[in-house]
Amino acid sequence: MARKNQLAGDSHWWRNAVVYQIYPRSFADANGDGIGDLAGIISRVDYLASLGIDAVWMSPFYPSALADGGYDVDDYMDIDPRIGNLDQFDELVEKLHSNNIRVFVDIVPNHSSDRHEWFQEALAAKPGSPERDRYIFRDGRGENGDLPPSNLASHFGPEGWTRTPDGQWYMHLFTKEQPDFNWDNPEVEEYFLKTLRFWSDRGVDGFRIDVAHALKKNLDPLPDRDSYALSVMKDDGTDPLFDRDEVQDVYRQWRKVFNEYDPPRVAVAEAWVHPHRRPPYASEEGLGQAFNFDLLASGWNAEQFKNVISDNIAMSDQTGSSSTWVLSNHDVIRHATRFAIPGYGLSPDSFDLENQWYVNHRLDHDLDLDMGLSRAKAATLLMLALPGSSYIYQGEELGLHDVVDIPSEQMQDPQWFRGEGKFKSRDGCRVPLPWEASGPSFGFGPGGSHLPQPKWYADVAVSVQEADSSSTLALYRGALKLRRELYTSDELQWLDVKPGLLAFRRSPSWICVTNFSDEPIEISGEVILASAEITGNLLPANATAWLSSL
Ligand code: GLC
Ligand code: CA
Repeated sequence: MARKNQLAGDSHWWRNAVVYQIYPRSFADANGDGIGDLAGIISRVDYLASLGIDAVWMSPFYPSALADGGYDVDDYMDIDPRIGNLDQFDELVEKLHSNNIRVFVDIVPNHSSDRHEWFQEALAAKPGSPERDRYIFRDGRGENGDLPPSNLASHFGPEGWTRTPDGQWYMHLFTKEQPDFNWDNPEVEEYFLKTLRFWSDRGVDGFRIDVAHALKKNLDPLPDRDSYALSVMKDDGTDPLFDRDEVQDVYRQWRKVFNEYDPPRVAVAEAWVHPHRRPPYASEEGLGQAFNFDLLASGWNAEQFKNVISDNIAMSDQTGSSSTWVLSNHDVIRHATRFAIPGYGLSPDSFDLENQWYVNHRLDHDLDLDMGLSRAKAATLLMLALPGSSYIYQGEELGLHDVVDIPSEQMQDPQWFRGEGKFKSRDGCRVPLPWEASGPSFGFGPGGSHLPQPKWYADVAVSVQEADSSSTLALYRGALKLRRELYTSDELQWLDVKPGLLAFRRSPSWICVTNFSDEPIEISGEVILASAEITGNLLPANATAWLSSL
């Protein structure tokens, strides 16, 4: 029997929601073992409510060996005992709901972990058995089958096939601990429908779908692949591994499950596909919304921002969905640090979505950290003025930078271990949050921290920023509060402004203007919020202001 959702009623809540991403292992640790947990999150619900967000999305909290930060799931319908249990999950959902905060959980359908019951059964069963058919097992090539079935790299390293003791091989697009499911097997389909109902019945409002463009594959013939660059992926629905047209059949089924609930459950696709292929994921018959990662690749440049914004609004108009905006998440360099890389996004040498599936963590540059933070705050204020929903990542409200000096032996990210030096680690954006200026783990918990925290955390802790009305935290709170009041429609109208500025009107009483240049520029209108101090009517370089008229 489905639990009654305390927030039933409004089925459009997601369209312009501000969703806060929690990386559970690094948010708050209640029992002092150095790993964030549900009890920690429960103890910080007041903080979440004080931000003025509409929803939280929790990255995986399922039982896992953490071969890929929890994106290797042992059991989709349980909680890692180090993180908590289902009773605590229910308590958390209830507490969030009573604070008007909805809940997204992360669903990882392309692969399970190699410790999943089904994979263990598959290993124990014979080649050709129904147990093996839930995954992708094949015989090897060569006389003794000791060559992999095809020349397939994985995202995190050279090999996309791993051999089992009996000689067969299994396919994994990520680490060898993340075997890919066979999505042509009806049992797999059923299992995920059951998983979606399991969490929906517990009151979960939405789902973030991991690698939503994978799942369906054409394995005849077995594909070779040595790069995961977007430019290598076919853009017409016939790529053997990604974004195949028939993956939408899966999501049409899921949509039926979402619509069994009141309000209907919602979902957002993580689909790194060619931009023109994004609309089907965001359609009403499909998942309903898709991440737009284009701002991750944008340099600090008015024209790039304007193009990304116009293109994405046009794209969401095609589907009747709303656009999404992302500046940071658990896979990329925090945007304060990205914008601290001189020339970031402006030259082919920096992050290029076309050539790199993940942001290439090029932190070997000289960083201008102050400039990075100014631009990050300006970009955030601009993003929060856009129509659609914004996804913000824990710690960005503190203006955190990536931790760039984690010693190699303390890194946890497989992208670091398996990347053959091509990628830096994603651990830099996953370091446990600073809540207090002192203490064993800066208030993260009564014990230590599973990744080392830097000394500068003392200056940026929540407690420090709460006492400072000009802090980044105060800016986020102010912006989210005002946004609620000012957001009356999805209309956006570009304004003709001086070179270096980018400005748009959202309503008669809401204009957003950003100074992308290196010099202050004069603006007119009443400033209602700004990412930097305004003297006279000069908008400083690298700053955004919200105005009530221009
Ligand atoms: C997604 C996740 C990433 C993970 C990968 C494999 O991109 O965001 O963290 O490594 O999928 O599950
Ligand atoms: Ca803990």
